[in-house]
Parts: sequence; structure tokens; C-alpha cells
Amino acid sequence: MGKPIIHMENIEKHFGNIIALAGVSFDVVPGECHCLLGDNGAGKSTFIKTMSGVHKPTKGSITLDGKPMNFDSPRDAMEAGIATVFQDLAMIPLMSVTRNFFMGREPTKGSGPFKRLDINTANEICVNSMREMGINLRGPDQAVGTLSGGERQTVAIARAVHFGAKVLILDEPTSALGVRQTSNVLATIDRVRKQGVGVVFITHNVRHSLAVGDRFTVLNRGKTLGTAARGEITAEELQDLMAGGQELASLEGSLGGTV
Ligand SMILES: Nc1ncnc2c1ncn2[C@@H]1O[C@H](COP(=O)(O)OP(=O)(O)OP(=O)(O)O)[C@@H](O)[C@H]1O
Ligand SMILES: [Mg+2]
Repeated sequence: MGKPIIHMENIEKHFGNIIALAGVSFDVVPGECHCLLGDNGAGKSTFIKTMSGVHKPTKGSITLDGKPMNFDSPRDAMEAGIATVFQDLAMIPLMSVTRNFFMGREPTKGSGPFKRLDINTANEICVNSMREMGINLRGPDQAVGTLSGGERQTVAIARAVHFGAKVLILDEPTSALGVRQTSNVLATIDRVRKQGVGVVFITHNVRHSLAVGDRFTVLNRGKTLGTAARGEITAEELQDLMAGGQELASLEGSLGGTV
């Protein structure tokens, strides 16, 4: 396995009396998909917000390419190549796919007072990036609002990769999707990983994580019990760790079946 791009060591995050993270260690190497699993309230969002510069850790250290790192803002993390695709995606439905792809970072032509958007180049880059992710747009002018949820998720991923993400964090990218769209997004994760990007895939769906994951870390009440590699852990074990073991077993008992 390669050297980690980012390494989070013993991260704690307290909000007043609430301990959201109680010492979490996690790293990402180039070209892997590292899944972060956990039930509601486990601390997943808090953890990735710490990783992407939204929160400062109360304790613990962040190392980027082997150097100690202090993110003062999400912009710092982005400039360091940590891109986060949040669930609400921050897109403007009535604007074209291309405009959403660039969001003010469009290529320009000419200079000084003659500088203007190079919309043809922008369209070409956008259509090509989407095609590389397996999506053939009807046209770059198509409004983002007319795309499916999975396609929109792909625009956000393609955008992050185009702007040089080294680590791509996806917060529950499949939770609102149907079967076919989910498999499209999982295929996109696979493509991105093969380009050498390290993917952090947050989910509470064990099956989705097993479909693409190389490593698995389970968060439970702000703590982890370590990280397992593909083949070292079964779906049942992951599910049990997420639920904290006990609860699911007793639920199964009372329902007389498998949950
Ligand atoms: N800004 C905050 N102030 C106080 N408590 C917070 C804050 N953010 C998160 N918490 C608490 O930290 C804990 C972990 O929350 P977090 O949102 O990280 O969980 P999660 O794993 O993302 O859950 P979900 O699957 O529901 O999104 C929760 O108990 C939550 O109430
Ligand atoms: Mg969350």
C-alpha cells in the first residue's frame, strides 16, 4: 500500500460537554476507497468536517503528505486537494451543467478589457469529463435540474476531480438513490479511484460499502475499533460493529428473523 495522502491521528472533537469524536484515527492512500461506516449520530459528519477544514479538532493531529497540517478554513483544505461532495451538493438547478461544473472558474479567452468566458472550451471540458465518468449528456446546456440524482452526484464528483482533488470525500452519496443510480455512482467511485484519487466513502449501507471499498472503518459513538481491509471482514461483522453488537442481536431475536 502507498503512503497516506492524509493521516488523521487520534482526533477528538468536543462541543461543550458533548464528545462527538473520542480519538479517531483514519488515513487515505492514493487510489483506494476507504469507507467510513456508522449509524446516525456516530460522528461521521463531524469527522469529515474536521478533515475538510470546517471544524478544528479539539485534540489530535492531521498530516498531509507527511507534513503536519492545520486547516483554518474549508478553503485551506480545498487548496491542499481535499474535496468534499456534501449531500446537498450546492448546485443551481436552472443553470446548465457546464456553469455548475465551473461555478465561476470557467476558462477565459482574450485579456484585459477583452477578457470573456470561453464557453466552447468550457462545454468541451465538461462534456468530456462527464463522458469519462460514464455519463453522456444530451448537451452541455442541459439544466442541472433535469438530471437524475445520480447524474448530479456525478457532476459534483467530476468537478472535484477536474479541479485536482487528491482526496475526494463523499458524504452518503448513495443514500437517496435507487438501485440503478446507486450502481452508477459506485461505478464512478471505481473510476475515480483508478485515476489515483483517494476516496473517502461515507455510508451507513454495508452492501454499498462492500461493493467498492478497499478498507473499512466503523465509527460507533465517536470511537473506532480499527480498520479492516477487504476480505478481512464480513457484511455481518460490519453491521454488528455499526450497531454496537448487542442491539441488533436482540432486535433479531424479538423479530424472529434477520434484520
Ligand atoms: N455543532 C454541534 N454542536 C453540538 N453537538 C454536535 C454538533 N455537531 C454534531 N454534534 C453531535 O455530535 C454527535 C455526532 O454527530 P454527527 O453529525 O457527526 O453524526 P453522523 O454520524 O454524521 O450522523 P448521521 O448519520 O445522522 O448524519 C451527535 O451527537 C451530534 O448531536
Ligand atoms: Mg452525518
